[in-house]
Amino acid sequence: MADRPKVTAWADQIAHAGRPGPGGPGIAKGPSLLIAGPTGTGKTYQAYGAIRALLARGVRLRWEATTTADLHARLRPRVGHDAERDLRSLARCPLLLLDDLGAAKASEWTEELTYRLINHRYEHMLPTLITTNLPTDQLRSALGDRVASRLAEMTDRVVLDGTDRRRRTASAA
Ligand SMILES: Nc1ncnc2c1ncn2[C@@H]1O[C@H](COP(=O)(O)OP(=O)(O)O)[C@@H](O)[C@H]1O
Ligand SMILES: [Mg+2]
Repeated sequence: MADRPKVTAWADQIAHAGRPGPGGPGIAKGPSLLIAGPTGTGKTYQAYGAIRALLARGVRLRWEATTTADLHARLRPRVGHDAERDLRSLARCPLLLLDDLGAAKASEWTEELTYRLINHRYEHMLPTLITTNLPTDQLRSALGDRVASRLAEMTDRVVLDGTDRRRRTASAA
């Protein structure tokens, strides 16, 4: 479960803003959360923890999660596959986890894809969990101005530090 105060505070805020409905509140519009930090510091763990915290509070929501690398693979143009439809579905999903933003190799195509995804979520204030290895001062050069400035406006930020938890486990074994 998410245990970082800023992560639980985000989940509380989203849960409180929930639209009342039959069978419990539905997820509402609201701020997004950017979880930054080096590899192995628990970013993915906290992000899934935030989703579980919302579900534990009884918020009804549809969510999707993807790493940026998988997103690129999934949306690459292929015969017989409607990538636009896939992008639309991710862009509109009430809660989206975008894991490891900025970790995959960038190109003009990936930058445009990220822009369209983030821009839709920005304009509609759809809660988005984003994790990244990139330090804040490298977000702009890695993701482009348009994405970085939208992220700056739409996200609360939490920076995780510490040592790589995976190495710690390996050396303890
Ligand atoms: N708060 C925590 N309590 C217990 N295990 C954790 C915690 N945070 C992370 N881990 C474990 O440490 C490892 C690295 O975490 P992960 O979230 O994958 O890091 P990152 O996404 O930053 O690379 C995983 O095996 C994860 O389950
Ligand atoms: Mg991770």
